Amino acid sequence: MLLTLAEAFHRLLYHGLLLRLPEARAVAVGQALLRRLPVEAVTAFTLEDPRLVVQLRGVRLPNPVILSSMYYDPVILRKAMALGFGAVTTKTITISPRPGHPEPNLVRVFGPEGAGFVNCNGFKNPGLAAFRETLAGLPRRRPLIVSVAGDSPDEYRRLVEALEGFADVVEVNISSPNTRLVYELSASPDRVRTLLKEVRGATAKPVVVKLSPDYPDQNREAIVPAVLDAGIDGVNFGNARRVEHPGLSQRAGGLSGPALFENVRDTVRQLRRLVGPDLFLIATGGIDTPAKALAAIEAGADAVGLFTAFITRGPTLPRRIGEALVAALTARGLQGVADLRGAG
Ligand SMILES: Cc1cc2nc3c(=O)[nH]c(=O)nc-3n(C[C@H](O)[C@H](O)[C@H](O)COP(=O)(O)O)c2cc1C
Repeated sequence: MLLTLAEAFHRLLYHGLLLRLPEARAVAVGQALLRRLPVEAVTAFTLEDPRLVVQLRGVRLPNPVILSSMYYDPVILRKAMALGFGAVTTKTITISPRPGHPEPNLVRVFGPEGAGFVNCNGFKNPGLAAFRETLAGLPRRRPLIVSVAGDSPDEYRRLVEALEGFADVVEVNISSPNTRLVYELSASPDRVRTLLKEVRGATAKPVVVKLSPDYPDQNREAIVPAVLDAGIDGVNFGNARRVEHPGLSQRAGGLSGPALFENVRDTVRQLRRLVGPDLFLIATGGIDTPAKALAAIEAGADAVGLFTAFITRGPTLPRRIGEALVAALTARGLQGVADLRGAG
């Protein structure tokens, strides 16, 4: 009942108001509401079922649905932890504060598969020192994945050393398409190799590397071998895809949303074949229905990440995915989500 009400509220808010506002205004209104709504009091967002539990190198997620990297505001991170996600990822943090690219830095796009975004956010974030302070006060209802990016292997190491105490998992971003800071790294496997070794040496926490969908050959031939050599624990495939868009201040940005999905599912299947059971895999990009989450896990993912669908489909999606996974497990007589992995 509460869930149906929450869905009706989201439909009204998203279609009746947010879609009618310019993007920047819609973001401000949506985030202001999320900060104020008492979502922590609504237990219906969360589905507790032991069959949904997944382990990412010993880190226990109560379910395999991860909020992908986008928010650094600790209030929003706290709210997200109450919205049924199995883990929450922070915005990518850099050593110095970054103002991000000027507006317009986000546009909506509508394709045959549904609604998505193109952003040139440019890593807007408060920087390492300020973010460390905010993380210290964040209650930890769910595992926290801390995302970092630097302009040298040494910067990655410093970020990881400073933030790993707050992280359950560290995510190394080498793939965001809307700044020069990291995007071209995938074409420089030697630099990636060095930075992964630095990061591995800086923490005993599980480390996951977020890959770009724009570098399929480099990923397969150089980056994934470097990930395995460095003893990295997992791969997140992946980030937004670089596209040109005249409506953005940078004339180009990262495409998110359902247009990414088929490539994500197929790449996760190839990655699973390539790495076997050695790495954990997170499938991110265009997952906006329970059926797509199930398909990504059947293709070989341990967990799925999403951001766009949190906005377009609303905050009941993690629970709906959980319900669909439990239904699939029951119908197939399986014990847990890990048994679905690779079944497709
Ligand atoms: C406005 C915006 C900001 C984002 N910022 C980051 C970021 O700081 N670091 C990162 O790794 N990914 C970032 N992403 C990418 C998402 O985490 C995700 O990988 C991508 O949107 C694909 O998933 P989706 O289709 O479910 O949105 C951002 C996406 C959007 C739309």
